[in-house]
Amino acid sequence: MTIILLAMAVTTGLFLGMAVILLVAERHLVNYGTCQIIVNGGEQRFSVEGGGNLLAALLENNISIPASCGGKGMCGYCKVRVTAGGGALLPTETPFLSRRDIAIGTRLACQVKIRQDVSVNVPDFLDVISDMVRTGTFDKHAKWRFSIKGEEHEGF
Ligand code: FES
Repeated sequence: MTIILLAMAVTTGLFLGMAVILLVAERHLVNYGTCQIIVNGGEQRFSVEGGGNLLAALLENNISIPASCGGKGMCGYCKVRVTAGGGALLPTETPFLSRRDIAIGTRLACQVKIRQDVSVNVPDFLDVISDMVRTGTFDKHAKWRFSIKGEEHEGF
């Protein structure tokens, strides 16, 4: 029994160690350079250093996206439509997306890593909220962070 537990602990430790090494290597060895984010067909565009996530890039540029879990991939509210450059859909996103969502390129902005230029369609903030209320997915206990004309707010 002790040997089995020891083997499990060693295996888990090896996997965790490899995951940490990969994360550190990606952070320090991979340079994605400057990437363009093109919003709503060119209505707005800005440059960011690659390697971050799309949600952070949008919020930093005063584009409001609902995000009650703070970008941890747990609330499913940060849906945007990525039309180019979003990379592959992650397993962390699929529980929040319908087949139709996936077919039209809907992604969770917090799960999209910026590795190249990204074209994204951002829904109007109030459309997102009204859709959540309509479908019964609005969490009235969640904390919301949003910006209006560059001014940060938290609440709801
Ligand atoms: S911010 Fe909650 S899933 Fe993206």
